[in-house]
Amino acid sequence: MAKSLINSINGKFKGKDILSLDQFAPLDLKMLFSLTKKMKNIAFNAKPSRILDGNIVTLIFYEPSSRTFGSFSAAVKQLGGQTVEIQNPQSFSSVAKGETLSDTIRVFEAYCDAIVIRHFEVGSAKKASDYASSVPVINAGDGTGEHPTQALLDLYTIHEKFNRLDNLLGVVGGDILNGRTIHSLIKGLCKFKKNTLFLLSPKTLRLTRADFLYFQDKGIKLIEIQSEKEIPKNADFWYWTRVQKERFHDLKEYEKVKNRFIVTKKLLKDYGNKKMILMHPLPRVGEIDIDIDRDPRAVYLGPQTRNGMYIRMALLALILGKV
Ligand code: CP
Repeated sequence: MAKSLINSINGKFKGKDILSLDQFAPLDLKMLFSLTKKMKNIAFNAKPSRILDGNIVTLIFYEPSSRTFGSFSAAVKQLGGQTVEIQNPQSFSSVAKGETLSDTIRVFEAYCDAIVIRHFEVGSAKKASDYASSVPVINAGDGTGEHPTQALLDLYTIHEKFNRLDNLLGVVGGDILNGRTIHSLIKGLCKFKKNTLFLLSPKTLRLTRADFLYFQDKGIKLIEIQSEKEIPKNADFWYWTRVQKERFHDLKEYEKVKNRFIVTKKLLKDYGNKKMILMHPLPRVGEIDIDIDRDPRAVYLGPQTRNGMYIRMALLALILGKV
């Protein structure tokens, strides 16, 4: 029977699809983060683990990926499980012959215990979860919709630094309209009190009004700004993103706005502070100068990336009922 609703986690991860940050309550995050710490210990110390012994996870990615694909693949292997990996099914599976999403998902569910899917359409992961009646489905990014496991690792990274997820002041820069990692991150921060985000983007790349009002209604304070000069100097984190070329129909429009906001050493010196962290979901295509990479506040190529594998190890162990 098809699964029809997006289920709240409510302390029980086993068998649940992971489609949206809407599913998580603060207690679910606490549980996940606690296990993520243990997973970090397993991976960091190269401790052999058999937690996913006997499990097979299918990774099917209709859009390109380095981190999400690589870290899910590594996460399964760190825990002694195995993967079926299909990148670009449009070329390397029977999708090339016209196979539907429904049929593809039904076929791979027969081979594995969980499916991780990235797809270019908003809502595709939910559709896949409806088709896969017997195994959980994880949304690894659905078009401009959500990227819940990225937000989980982002929230974990913020929590690791500040030991809280409330009372935070953040600056989000770049493509806020199309950035699915941003949408999920905002949903996550909405769960906690007294969070404020300054949103810095070209006018054409702001949140839709519907999303802006929806998030505000959930309790987060959002302040849209148009210039670097409006960045508050006491932010806890900056979360920078690339302008998503693949979402533009007219490349001339992309050229007008790409790299409008670049984090330079000067910008960080003028508007940053010593305690903040600088995050980016990656890939970056010029919007953070590479000479910032060695700044201790820059976590994007360090803890933020590594946390992606740890959080996915924890999530898989929980939804497969192995812990
Ligand atoms: N952050 C992220 O989703 O990166 P990839 O597209 O490389 O998976």
